[in-house]
Amino acid sequence: MAKLTVYIVLHLIIQWSSASSAYVPPSFQMKRVSDQPIISAWDKNSDFLYNYNVAFMPTVSNPDIATLLVRVQDLNTNPATIYDVGPSKIAVSQSTDGSYLKYSHVTQDDIIIDTDIPERSFGAEDPRVVLHEGTYYLFFTAVSKTTDDRWRAQLALATCSVNCTKKNNWKNVGPLFPDVFWCKSGGLLIHNATHRYLFFNDSNIAIARTADLFKYELTNDFLLSTRSNYFDSALVEAGPEPLKLSDNNYLFLYNSARKTNISNPKPNWELEYNLGWAILDGNDPTKVLARSDQPLFSPELDWEKCDNKSGVWTDRGLTPLVIFVEGWKKTAENTFLVWYQGCDSTTGLAELKVTFSSESGATMLAPILVYWAIFLSFFMF
Ligand SMILES: *[C@@H]1O[C@H](CO)[C@@H](O)[C@H](O)[C@H]1NC(C)=O
Ligand SMILES: *[C@@H]1O[C@H](CO)[C@@H](O)[C@H](O)[C@H]1NC(C)=O
Ligand SMILES: *[C@@H]1O[C@H](CO)[C@@H](O)[C@H](O)[C@H]1NC(C)=O
Ligand SMILES: *[C@@H]1O[C@H](CO)[C@@H](O)[C@H](O)[C@H]1NC(C)=O
Ligand SMILES: *[C@@H]1O[C@H](CO)[C@@H](O)[C@H](O)[C@H]1NC(C)=O
Repeated sequence: MAKLTVYIVLHLIIQWSSASSAYVPPSFQMKRVSDQPIISAWDKNSDFLYNYNVAFMPTVSNPDIATLLVRVQDLNTNPATIYDVGPSKIAVSQSTDGSYLKYSHVTQDDIIIDTDIPERSFGAEDPRVVLHEGTYYLFFTAVSKTTDDRWRAQLALATCSVNCTKKNNWKNVGPLFPDVFWCKSGGLLIHNATHRYLFFNDSNIAIARTADLFKYELTNDFLLSTRSNYFDSALVEAGPEPLKLSDNNYLFLYNSARKTNISNPKPNWELEYNLGWAILDGNDPTKVLARSDQPLFSPELDWEKCDNKSGVWTDRGLTPLVIFVEGWKKTAENTFLVWYQGCDSTTGLAELKVTFSSESGATMLAPILVYWAIFLSFFMF
């Protein structure tokens, strides 16, 4: 009998440890709030031709207003094609009603990050914003050209505390990694007072650490790498800052690309961009608990595909077959509004709902019961 007790205790320990280490991910549902772009030159919402990659900036004075930072871009004068673009800039637009579907018209006066300093003389791209203790930390890609005519991308920081819809109130901090020739796309996670992480770059998503949000230290670790034979085989790139789910873990949205054969009008363009998700451990956000097998959201509508079969949008897409996310807002527990772009040309809005299955306990229980039935019958017969 003592031997049986020892067996039972041992088996209970084994089961407890295997059950507690198996993270059961929630399920995800992402639906468009509108099937039309919410900011688009073709709907006369902007003076700029391309309006995309928006960051969401929480509005302190009125949480119901969405302030967006929009990457805006125009064609060069006498452009050879619709792909012959000038430098990007970052402009502000605010929602004008409670639906988050209408925004103030974007004009030259709304630009907050311009191409007025050498490190970004060829563009300020891809904003991502975090609000911390009354200050906005804006991460963006500063694009320049070297004297021998090579493109250079540097992840840069600007901050603002008061009246941040006005350009003069933004302070330029500059490139975070001046010695790195190419880096971009930073999502900041302020985990607690001592542990703050910047998930950044494309190709793979690298991790940097910061104590004061101004100085960033590179690590050799990747948060996420590309996976062959998956939808993220060609590239992974940071989304916006991770946000907490009800189980205390973080949800991280990331952008990704794979090769595709879908015929599109852009010369030599053969990638398709989809959105993925990863769950980061709430106790150590550098640990990935689960990752999407399938894209969470993909180019489906004409203004998201801009491929050879997209009607009028065939000739409007700066980059065909792209869905890309840099801004989101938690609206309720496990519910988020996600601003995304289509074809590097326009901005859309979707809602993401995350559901934890109440059956997850039951699905764990079934194999355990079968296991115990076999185990006990061994002693009984
Ligand atoms: C912010 O804007 C308000 C209203 O326009 C103005 O009264 C105030 O002086 C501004 N503050 C700064 C620091 O720009
Ligand atoms: C960022 O990615 C680029 C490739 O796109 C790579 O050359 C660069 O070394 C990476 N930088 C860091 C800091 O990981
Ligand atoms: C694209 O087409 C080539 C040649 O027809 C084929 O080998 C390849 O598997 C296709 N790739 C995809 C992603 O469909
Ligand atoms: C797609 O459209 C482009 C430009 O209109 C054209 O050059 C190309 O041949 C088309 N591809 C296919 C497979 O029809
Ligand atoms: C901050 O987070 C780190 C990593 O998860 C953890 O080790 C540390 O105890 C946390 N500090 C506080 C004050 O919670």
